[in-house]
This record gives sequence, C-alpha cells and structure tokens, in this order.
Amino acid sequence: FILLTFVQGGLIIKCAVLLMCLLRSCSSIGKYVDFYSRFSPSPLSIKQFLDFGSENACERTSFLFLRQELPVRLANIMKEINLLPDNLLKTPSVRLVQSWYVQSLQEILEFLNKDADGKIIYDFTDTVIRIRNRHNDVIPTMAQGVVEYKETYGTDPVTSQNLQYFLDRFYMSRISIRMLLNQHTLLFGGKVRVNPAHPKQIGSIDPHCDVTEVVNDAYHNARKLCDVYYKNSPELQLEEFSVKERGKAITVVYVPSHLYHMLFELFKNAMRATMELHLDAVEPPPVHVQIVLGNEDLTIKVSDRGGGVPLRKIDRLFTYTYSTAPLPRVETSRATPLAGFGYGLPISRLYARYFQGDLKLYSLEGYGTDAVIYIRALSTESIERLPVYNKSAWRHYKTIHEADDWCVPSKEPKDLSTFRSV
Ligand SMILES: Nc1ncnc2c1ncn2[C@@H]1O[C@H](COP(=O)(O)OP(=O)(O)OP(=O)(O)O)[C@@H](O)[C@H]1O
Ligand SMILES: [Mg+2]
Repeated sequence: FILLTFVQGGLIIKCAVLLMCLLRSCSSIGKYVDFYSRFSPSPLSIKQFLDFGSENACERTSFLFLRQELPVRLANIMKEINLLPDNLLKTPSVRLVQSWYVQSLQEILEFLNKDADGKIIYDFTDTVIRIRNRHNDVIPTMAQGVVEYKETYGTDPVTSQNLQYFLDRFYMSRISIRMLLNQHTLLFGGKVRVNPAHPKQIGSIDPHCDVTEVVNDAYHNARKLCDVYYKNSPELQLEEFSVKERGKAITVVYVPSHLYHMLFELFKNAMRATMELHLDAVEPPPVHVQIVLGNEDLTIKVSDRGGGVPLRKIDRLFTYTYSTAPLPRVETSRATPLAGFGYGLPISRLYARYFQGDLKLYSLEGYGTDAVIYIRALSTESIERLPVYNKSAWRHYKTIHEADDWCVPSKEPKDLSTFRSV
C-alpha cells in the first residue's frame, strides 16, 4: 500500500492507492461511491480559502486537494440521494440529477492515478469547468422532481419531514461543491488570476467586502422588480453601527455573491409584504436596514411593515415550496418573478449557515417582520458547515416516527365543568 496523506483543516485522510486500483478495475461506480462516502468531507475556513488563493498558491496543490475532496463530497451526498423514496428516485428530474453526479464523479476519478504534471493539471481545470456548468441547474431540476412526486403521490408528514431534511443537506452540499469548483476555476481557469470585474476578490471571496454596497445593490435590484409588479416600491432606510471604528465603511471577509443572494431574497419578501398591505398608499412605509459589526458577529436586520406572519406559520416559511404567492408561469412571465417558488428563504438560510452564520425571522403579527442575517465577523471562524453521510444521517430516513411526546391540543375546548371539583 502506498499511503497518500492529505492534511486539510486538521483532518487526515489516508488513502490506500493500491486498494483503489483494485476497486477501479473490478467494479462499477457504486463501489467508488461506497468507498469515498466512508470519508468525511474536510471543511475549510474562509481564511484557508484565502490563503489557498494568495500569491504563492499553486494550481497543483489545488488539483491534489480537489481530486480527493470532490469525490468525497459527491459520494457523501450520493449515498443520501439513494435513500429517497423509490417513486421520487424514478422521476425523470431526479434521474437526471443523479446522472450528473455519476458522470462528474467518473470524470474526476479519471485523474486519480495520474502524475500531477502540466498537461494533466490543465485538463483537470477544464474538467472542473465542465462539471460546474453541468451542475448549473441542479436546484430547479431537483425542485421539479419534488413537485412531480408530491403531485403524483401526495405526501404524509413523515415524508415531508424527510424531504426537508434531505433538501437542506443536498442543497448545502451543492453550495459547498460549487464553492470549491468556483475557487479553482476563478483562480486557475483564465489567463490571469485577477478577475477584471472584481480585481479585489480572491476567487469569489472579497477580503474587504463592503456590506453597505451589497445592501444597496440588492435593494435597488429588488426595487426594480417591485416597481414592475406594483408600480411603486418602499424606500430604503439604512443605519450602520460598528463597535470597532465608527464612521468607517463596515467590511467583512466574505463571498459577496452569497451575501447579495440573501439580501435580494429578503428585500423581495419585505417589499412584496409591504406593497400588499399598503396597496393604495402613495408612500408605502420604508424598509429599514441595520448593519451592525460586533466583535463576533456581523448582523444585518431587514425590517418591514408588511403586516408580519403569525407565529404558528413561521417555521413553515422555511419549508421548500411553501409560498403564499401564485406559482409564476415561466413561459408567460414578463420578468423575474418577485415571489412564488418558495425557495427564497430556505436557500438563503443555507447560504447564511454555510459559513456558520444563520438567518432568522421574527414577526410582529399585525405590524411587520424582522429578518436577520448573522455572519461570523472573523474569517477564521467562518468554517464550512457540511453534511456528512453516517449512521445518524441514515437513521433520519429510516427511523419509524413515533407519536409526538407533547400533547396535541384538541380543536374543540373541553367542557371544563367536569374539573371544577378538583
Ligand atoms: N417579510 C415577510 N413578511 C410577510 N410574509 C413573508 C415575509 N417573508 C416571507 N414571507 C412569507 O413566506 C413565504 C415564503 O417566502 P420565500 O421567500 O421562501 O418564498 P416566496 O417569496 O413565496 O417565493 P420565492 O422562492 O420566489 O422567494 C412567502 O410566500 C410569504 O408568504
Ligand atoms: Mg421570496
């Protein structure tokens, strides 16, 4: 056995190359999925991503890391796809998604035993670009599969819970794989390492991401959509506070496209709620944003006066496909819809959680909603949060759910006169 040792994020992966060769020659892709799913993915911090992309980083190191890490991340989630209900696995959309994962895994495995020379590394970067493009439509395609399944077979509470559990992990895994593919492509895929559109960025990470700039960007783009649908839109009121340096722009080491995604979704929701409640108002109440930089957290609160949501429904808002807007008709829509797929909040929360942050909704029913994004202020603390396939994950899909261990309140109030003597 020739042992290759990869040290990444404190995790040591020992890979028996000879065993791999044997496996390859005599088995199908399923064996590889089994093999690689036994390794846990290695979470990277934003700081590590940055160090990796700094001046002395080289394509070869990235190649060596990715040819091991990508199969691990792909295989871990492929095992979970296999645990989905049979009828969901049989839908054309889910089959298509599965075929993309199989093909991408196969393409990376081609590089397993190759010497890390110039030509191979160059070809690998090409493969990474091809894989990234192949997986562009994973989110809507998987969503389509779930819709087809629910429409044909309906769902019970247990299946819904399993699906929610799966989709959170599946989409999180995809965010993470895409992050790796993007970093490699942006750093090594072009002739120059500097992205002319974003010269300050290292790959997709901005070491000085100006939060106010991203907030303004997201607000203006959401506002354009809102103007199309309602012929009016709420103003933006912005407040900033930093415990460190007052009066200076608040910056954070982060992926601006992730931050933009979350803010754009929150603005669209806030604007829709505001406009629906104040349809006839000449000046609808503004959307109020507070950006606060503390010692540990960067917090962004988006507050609207759109009437809020009852507490009873808050958890439901993070359910995939839950929406109170009519489903947009893609073929007839004038522009990007303002709402309707029900993916805005759950996917945004995944982006926030991906680097150990969070996204929460607090509502004052009858008045409005506060949506809060939490991001880690320190790049060393922003570490990828990754699903891992193991016994506990497996149990989630297989455990027979038992009765609730809290009383379910009955709809009709009981006749309390019988308890009077107690
Ligand atoms: N700020 C808010 N005020 C009131 N209701 C809200 C607010 N944000 C979200 N909601 C409710 O939560 C539901 C789900 O929101 P989500 O953003 O996930 O999906 P959507 O806006 O319906 O569609 P899309 O996927 O296009 O964003 C919305 O349909 C709406 O009923
Ligand atoms: Mg939305």
